[in-house]
Amino acid sequence: MNIQTKPKTLITSEADVTPFVLAAMENTDNARLKEIVTSLVTHLHAFVREARPTEEEFEQGMHILNSIGQATNDGHNEAVLYADILGVSTLIDLINNDGMQGETMSALLGPFYRGEAPECASGDSIVRCETPGDRLVLKGRVVSTDGSPIAGATLDVWQASPDGLYENQDPGQADHNLRGKFTTREDGTYEIVSVKPAGYPIPMDTPAGDLIRAQNRTPMRPAHVHFIVSAPGCKTLVTQIFSDTEEALLNDVVFGAKRQIAGDLVRLEDGSYTCEYDFVLKPGVPSFPEPPIKGKVG
Ligand code: BEZ
Ligand code: FE
Repeated sequence: MNIQTKPKTLITSEADVTPFVLAAMENTDNARLKEIVTSLVTHLHAFVREARPTEEEFEQGMHILNSIGQATNDGHNEAVLYADILGVSTLIDLINNDGMQGETMSALLGPFYRGEAPECASGDSIVRCETPGDRLVLKGRVVSTDGSPIAGATLDVWQASPDGLYENQDPGQADHNLRGKFTTREDGTYEIVSVKPAGYPIPMDTPAGDLIRAQNRTPMRPAHVHFIVSAPGCKTLVTQIFSDTEEALLNDVVFGAKRQIAGDLVRLEDGSYTCEYDFVLKPGVPSFPEPPIKGKVG
């Protein structure tokens, strides 16, 4: 175990604090932990120097951090929601998934993902109870970055009911309504029957909601359908296909909307919709996200 080296002089002014604190962390054994915490302290102190919070404002900030923890439980992850509304989740997503190999861009997993969706055959409907909204057929192919179709790829799909709630937020919906797991055919094609999604507000009764109200922001997410697309030998794609107005895309409260994953919904004569979208996977090792919450949404 390393023994901390003592700084030579005590802190006498504001300017001394950052180097003094960094010196105290010098002996961190884990190189990555050292890199991350050194950067965190450097930038956090720079933020404090720039914003110059009063003591009352600091107290308020600590109260917000505590209430983020208190609002988190098995059915709600407020820390993730707060990172989402500050744009941090999307920044992390783009740092780790830059789309530079021609693969489909990723988007946030979101808090409403449940594993273990029912297995579906191509062309099955994921509407499992009376659900508002026009019929929508989502179809296309899963291909690799060289353009070859991927047979047997898995598409785990889920969306909110057009009344604004996911099935695990709403006791009025059937278990796994608007969720399903599909497998591509030999030619890489898939087909999913659902309903045209609508935009919905994120939960507003917690600290994230307080900040959104204080900032006069919309709480809305643009209409979207979530996908996790995976295949052996490919990096798993966590994404969303969007379909909404330009204004709704621009004002996504969690900054997830991107042009490359905006779907083109076509209205047919019978009033139903189709959307064709090809997912492109890049080579890599499949991995599967943990559902962000354990229980019913709380
Ligand atoms: C969602 O798309 O389900 C979602 C993403 C981030 C925050 C809230 C909801
Ligand atoms: Fe969503």
